[in-house]
Amino acid sequence: MIALDLAGQLVCVTGGAGSIGFATASRLVDAGASVLVLDRSKEQVDQATESLRKKGGRVLGVALDIRQSESVGQALEKATSEFGSLAGLVNAAGILRTGSLRDMPEELWEEIYSVNVTGTYVCSKAAVPYLAQSPQRAIVNVSSVSAFIGSDEGFAYTTTKGAVLSFTYGIAGDLAPQGIRVNAVCPGWVSGGFTQQAMDASDNPEALVEMASKLHYLERMATPQDVADAIVWLLSPLASFITGTAVFVDGGYMVKRGL
Ligand SMILES: NC(=O)c1ccc[n+]([C@@H]2O[C@H](COP(=O)([O-])OP(=O)(O)OC[C@H]3O[C@@H](n4cnc5c(N)ncnc54)[C@H](O)[C@@H]3O)[C@@H](O)[C@H]2O)c1
Repeated sequence: MIALDLAGQLVCVTGGAGSIGFATASRLVDAGASVLVLDRSKEQVDQATESLRKKGGRVLGVALDIRQSESVGQALEKATSEFGSLAGLVNAAGILRTGSLRDMPEELWEEIYSVNVTGTYVCSKAAVPYLAQSPQRAIVNVSSVSAFIGSDEGFAYTTTKGAVLSFTYGIAGDLAPQGIRVNAVCPGWVSGGFTQQAMDASDNPEALVEMASKLHYLERMATPQDVADAIVWLLSPLASFITGTAVFVDGGYMVKRGL
């Protein structure tokens, strides 16, 4: 087995109580890393933290809003004083808001943009001084195939995921002199999380799963673990010459669309 060399390293996962974030935190614990879980609700953070600790993980959970730089800074300070320097940041927190350009109220646009884009910026900015002190240094942002795909009701979400990708490319050069690698993952449809929300709202969830599965060459949706594996690989020294790019964890979704 190839070692990921993350044992004893500290990684911060935003949205760590959510579907993809929790799968990532769990994979990190399996790899021997310490994890700082950041998410919005205390109840969800406590639940995630408890279950990761049960697996033997060294975990700190903090409930906060990723847009609040002071709270994010305090959480990073606490985690690094407990577990040592910060080797990685995973920006997985995000929200989905739908509506057409004509109808979406400005508050909803501002909400999705501030969580998905400004939140990613706030956490990355806060993490840099801590990452700079670590021998391993990487940021992985969670974008989406949606960054490339036109959508009527999903226009605000696709905008934010495109911005997350451009932010990734933009800061890769900025942080390279400090030895910090920055990459993104672009999943297709992933079971759980946002997809579960869509299924819960659907009259025919089975048909939705079938439709979504067929969008991918591999004829299924990704599992959160599929995405987590790519994230953990990008964080690890196995990806030490990879920066400023995106890994499509999409079962052939993009190429099937001819993109
Ligand atoms: N599920 C999919 O099909 C899919 C596909 C492509 C990309 N993504 C991306 O993956 C990421 C995770 O999505 P998921 O499917 O795991 O959804 P999820 O809802 O399970 O996880 C998102 C987490 O982010 C947290 N969060 C939201 N706003 C926050 C804030 N202001 N402060 C702190 N935490 C906050 C939520 O509480 C939640 O736990 C998102 O960025 C999403 O855009 C998801």
